[in-house]
Amino acid sequence: MKQSYSKVYRIIHWAMAISFILLLITIFLRLTWMNKDNMAGIIEIYLSETGQVLSQEQLIVLAKQIRKPMWEWHIYIGYFLVGLFIIRFLLPFFGKMKISNPFDKRLNTKEKLQKWSYIIFYVGVVISLVTGLIIELGPKDLKKPMEEIHILSIYYLVPFVVIHLAGVLFAEFTDQKGIVSSIVSGKNEDKQV
Ligand code: HEM
Repeated sequence: MKQSYSKVYRIIHWAMAISFILLLITIFLRLTWMNKDNMAGIIEIYLSETGQVLSQEQLIVLAKQIRKPMWEWHIYIGYFLVGLFIIRFLLPFFGKMKISNPFDKRLNTKEKLQKWSYIIFYVGVVISLVTGLIIELGPKDLKKPMEEIHILSIYYLVPFVVIHLAGVLFAEFTDQKGIVSSIVSGKNEDKQV
């Protein structure tokens, strides 16, 4: 079915999409170029060439300090997403951006899968946001167990983005031509969500 997307739907969608892409960049940097063990290794090699030695703990402290300004963006984006998701979940009470029911009999299999992907994504996002908030603001003894759950976020986030983009492109090139431009400009003749 052809849909047009309201202004509020599009604003929330793109705020969400851009935030998650930035969040993924911070995760990517932490896992690669800004990995604390790699950076500690670089510092260690430089120091040994100049006849200086630091303990492994000191090297890691330095590496974490270098990473910190980058990682702070992960936390800022996290707080922004908490606000955004509170708005997203309040909107249906005002008749906007309703959360589709994947059990709706009128939906075909493809639409049901699409709606399920959103529900699973939202459940994952809520878990990531709550565990992130507890890591930052909660009691110290909960930090480790929450971190263990929080780092699993990558396992739903990356597959969701890949499946979502593939699904949208597939729709664009098959039966929903114009879907990409309608989530940007909102223009479409038929139903508005
Ligand atoms: C070029 C990039 C993207 C395009 C063209 C795009 C396009 C779309 C379109 C057309 C829809 C509406 C589908 C429908 O009618 O059900 C949608 C929904 C959605 N998109 Fe994207 N999307 C993009 C990136 C992203 C990213 C990076 C995320 C988050 C990681 C995301 C999260 C969502 C969510 C959660 C929904 C469902 C919103 C709801 O109805 O509750 N999108 N997207």
